[in-house]
Amino acid sequence: MLNCKMGRYQILGLLIFLPFLHYSLPFASPLCPPDQRDSLLHFKNSFVLDVNASDYCHSYYPSSPKTKVWNKGVDCCSWDGVTCDNVTGNVIGLDLTCSWLDEALHSNGSLLLPKLEVLLLRSCNLTRFPYFLYSLKGLKDLDLSFNMISGEIPEWFWGISHDTLEKLIISHNFLNGSIQQLHWKRLFYIDLEKNSFQGQLPIPPPSTSSFYASDNDFTGEIPSSICQLSSLKVLDLSENNLSGCMPPCFGDITNLVELDLRSNKIQGPLPRSLVKCTNLLVLFLSHNKFSDIFPHWLKVPRLYTLDLQSNNFHGRINLTASRLSFPALAYLFLSNNNFIGWSSMEDFSNTSLSVIDISNNKFGGPILLPSPVTIYYSIASNHFAGKIPSLICNATKVEMVDLSNNSLTGSLPPCMTNFSTHLSVLNLGTNNLEGTIPQSFSWGNSLMTFDLSQNRFEGKLPQSLEKCEFLEVLNLGDNQIKDTFPGWLGMLLQLQVLILRSNHFKGFLDIPGRIDLFPKLRILDLSNNNFGGPLPANLFMNLKAMMNGNIRQDIFLYTPRSFEKSSYNDTLSITLRGRKERLGRIWTIVRSIDLSQNSFKGNIPGIIGHLHFLDGLNLSHNHLTGSIPLTLGNVTYLESLDISSNKLCGGIPEVLADLPFLAYLNLSKNRLAGRIPQHNMFLTYENNSFSENPGLCGTPLSKECSPGLSSSTFDCKGHENWFKQNTVWIGYSSGFIIGISIAYIAVEIGRPKWLAQGVRMLERRAAKWMEKPMLKAIKFHGQ
Ligand SMILES: *[C@@H]1O[C@H](CO)[C@@H](O)[C@H](O)[C@H]1NC(C)=O
Ligand SMILES: *[C@@H]1O[C@H](CO)[C@@H](O)[C@H](O)[C@H]1NC(C)=O
Ligand SMILES: *[C@@H]1O[C@H](CO)[C@@H](O)[C@H](O)[C@H]1NC(C)=O
Ligand SMILES: *[C@@H]1O[C@H](CO)[C@@H](O)[C@H](O)[C@H]1NC(C)=O
Ligand SMILES: *[C@@H]1O[C@H](CO)[C@@H](O)[C@H](O)[C@H]1NC(C)=O
Ligand SMILES: *[C@@H]1O[C@H](CO)[C@@H](O)[C@H](O)[C@H]1NC(C)=O
Ligand SMILES: *[C@@H]1O[C@H](CO)[C@@H](O)[C@H](O)[C@H]1NC(C)=O
Ligand SMILES: *[C@@H]1O[C@H](CO)[C@@H](O)[C@H](O)[C@H]1NC(C)=O
Ligand SMILES: *[C@@H]1O[C@H](CO)[C@@H](O)[C@H](O)[C@H]1NC(C)=O
Ligand SMILES: *[C@@H]1O[C@H](CO)[C@@H](O)[C@H](O)[C@H]1NC(C)=O
Ligand SMILES: *[C@@H]1O[C@H](CO)[C@@H](O)[C@H](O)[C@H]1NC(C)=O
Ligand SMILES: *[C@@H]1O[C@H](CO)[C@@H](O)[C@H](O)[C@H]1NC(C)=O
Repeated sequence: MLNCKMGRYQILGLLIFLPFLHYSLPFASPLCPPDQRDSLLHFKNSFVLDVNASDYCHSYYPSSPKTKVWNKGVDCCSWDGVTCDNVTGNVIGLDLTCSWLDEALHSNGSLLLPKLEVLLLRSCNLTRFPYFLYSLKGLKDLDLSFNMISGEIPEWFWGISHDTLEKLIISHNFLNGSIQQLHWKRLFYIDLEKNSFQGQLPIPPPSTSSFYASDNDFTGEIPSSICQLSSLKVLDLSENNLSGCMPPCFGDITNLVELDLRSNKIQGPLPRSLVKCTNLLVLFLSHNKFSDIFPHWLKVPRLYTLDLQSNNFHGRINLTASRLSFPALAYLFLSNNNFIGWSSMEDFSNTSLSVIDISNNKFGGPILLPSPVTIYYSIASNHFAGKIPSLICNATKVEMVDLSNNSLTGSLPPCMTNFSTHLSVLNLGTNNLEGTIPQSFSWGNSLMTFDLSQNRFEGKLPQSLEKCEFLEVLNLGDNQIKDTFPGWLGMLLQLQVLILRSNHFKGFLDIPGRIDLFPKLRILDLSNNNFGGPLPANLFMNLKAMMNGNIRQDIFLYTPRSFEKSSYNDTLSITLRGRKERLGRIWTIVRSIDLSQNSFKGNIPGIIGHLHFLDGLNLSHNHLTGSIPLTLGNVTYLESLDISSNKLCGGIPEVLADLPFLAYLNLSKNRLAGRIPQHNMFLTYENNSFSENPGLCGTPLSKECSPGLSSSTFDCKGHENWFKQNTVWIGYSSGFIIGISIAYIAVEIGRPKWLAQGVRMLERRAAKWMEKPMLKAIKFHGQ
């Protein structure tokens, strides 16, 4: 009997094996019966060939127009995709997977192949169940996946090949309705994945060994009749709407190797009968409502993945006991539960865990050391306290370390910045760490994210950071670092985010006039330091990523940092639209400069108008003088502009009112004068956008303008000055909200699985997705 993996590659196996058969027996092959040949030709002609119909095949199978060269002159047994019985010559197999077939004609095609056993029509753009299936009496293996079949399964389909069908794959279609019963008595492999089936979960016959039903809308409890599937090895019911408890008899399925119940609403404790399932290799229970203690009681010698994330598992974990229960465990996912701690003194160093994710629980005490083979180590958002032991550096294989949001104290062990050449994420943010940042980065390191924000680090930035040539995110905000601006970081060609907010940096922002510094920088936050001197025109001129761009499409370039079976998404908080926003994966679409709360002097350089793709600009709380540069009107995508609390003078350029996406504006506490522009977005701002500028008048301020002042403003010397009214009106809408919401939805749903399945699936799922993420997006904007 095939297990799941073999089943999935069986098709590929056929493709490789069959040609070999033909070549090795060129003369022994009997001729294909003429009536079967004619039926195949008739079938061929009921499709048109369209390369686009096999659009998303290349990631799974290469596509080719197999039927194109089928012709009468050649024995049909040697046609591409056709397999004959080597004794009788009857056609027994037809594999037209990914062969450009497009059922565009909606023909009622027929297929008179009385001995057909294997029919593979994956990805043929079928829109319904072909009726000829009804006449095939001996079918064993049927694959109709990745088609466009919609609606309910027709009644007649349940009767096909009743005594012979062993393998049925109808995944990735648009099927709905409920499934009463799966009658086929020899069925051992059934795949219903990625449809919209509703109602109660159907239970396949006892012969079944692999049952895939994920990503449908099955509801209600898991029927206890499932316990009779004594041959079942693989059960995947993930991403449905199943509720209630797991049936107590569940452990009767003793052959179970893989159990996946992720993303349902299953509650209660795990049935203790699971103790009989000693063959389990993987157990996915995440994103449900299970409420139980850690399953020490489960004794599964070969289990290598245990995923309990996002449930209500609680209590203490006895690592000694769990090491005995799960001696082969490699992937442990416990995040988002209510575990409170450990009941033995052991740590992970004596385990073979390569992924340890215990984030978002209530674990306390000293941090537990990872194992020397650990690759992913997240203990974020717990109550761990005490120092980071230098023994952590024994984990030389580690690629991702996230200790953020705990109560860790003391200084960093010097080895911490060079113990693993594979390390790509080091997040120690939001702790009480102190001391200087170790100088020990070495060439050849892989660091991409380095986050020490919200600690008490002091001293200078280590110059050895220049050796982190792959660094993308550097977040040192909210510390006590005393240094001058690290212009040399501009040599890090991958750097996208530089946050030095709320430290003791000082001096001028001196950037050499050379090109190609900070070429990818998109978030620069230097706010709340002691920087002075003029605003850095040279620096602005370097920020290529803010000058060029393809607006919000970048979002699709975002891939979470992935590690063995796990991932990490950078999150950062920056000030946007006047308040602090915590940006998850969407930071990759934001371009922002925040130089607020420093001591910058002089004019706002006109060069800033080159940063067309800037979303947020905050220059507030400095000592800027002069007038607002007209070139700001060229920062087309600006959504948030704060230049309040300076000494800016003159009028408000009319061009600002033409910025189509400017949703947040703060010009208050300056020396601006003249009439506030009265059109477009300016009609939406409230008076606190303009307050404390004694010379300003007009709505929304209560001060009326004197009659002579219509649509004119002042320059800094008080002379009346007519600004050119340059109308680049694009569309009246709050682009920030719409743009980011759409992007957010895209990110929220963007799973690698989904990418591979192509755009068609996207359309179908869109309706489902819209509901939840949309709410989140709205919440995010606080609208
Ligand atoms: C396939 O799609 C591409 C791009 O969408 C289009 O240019 C091409 O004409 C299509 N081919 C056929 C045969 O329809
Ligand atoms: C697939 O079939 C649908 C519906 O018949 C049709 O609209 C679409 O163009 C076809 N797709 C391709 C790529 O031929
Ligand atoms: C015919 O095929 C069967 C399996 O389908 C195989 O066992 C047998 O050896 C083959 N016979 C010849 C002559 O190739
Ligand atoms: C297809 O053929 C079957 C049997 O010949 C018939 O019952 C069915 O109505 C036909 N469907 C269409 C759409 O012509
Ligand atoms: C099932 O799908 C068909 C065709 O897409 C649709 O018309 C029908 O409303 C769907 N039924 C349910 C219950 O969703
Ligand atoms: C899930 O099932 C519950 C009842 O068990 C029902 O109220 C809810 O509407 C279902 N949700 C979806 C998305 O089908
Ligand atoms: C932890 O488990 C081990 C092995 O089962 C056992 O000997 C020990 O007593 C347990 N510790 C606690 C505190 O329960
Ligand atoms: C580590 O594991 C071995 C056997 O697996 C055991 O003998 C030893 O006591 C363990 N060490 C610690 C510190 O628990
Ligand atoms: C930090 O951890 C606390 C619980 O320890 C949690 O409530 C909070 O949401 C976490 N903060 C972040 C930013 O993850
Ligand atoms: C840490 O590594 C050192 C050197 O490889 C080794 O001697 C030591 O035993 C390790 N310590 C632990 C606790 O694994
Ligand atoms: C990171 O984001 C991806 C989707 O882009 C998501 O599937 C994954 O669970 C996230 N990882 C973490 C650790 O939050
Ligand atoms: C805005 O940009 C355009 C083209 O890039 C340029 O011609 C124009 O002078 C700029 N306007 C201002 C006010 O800088």
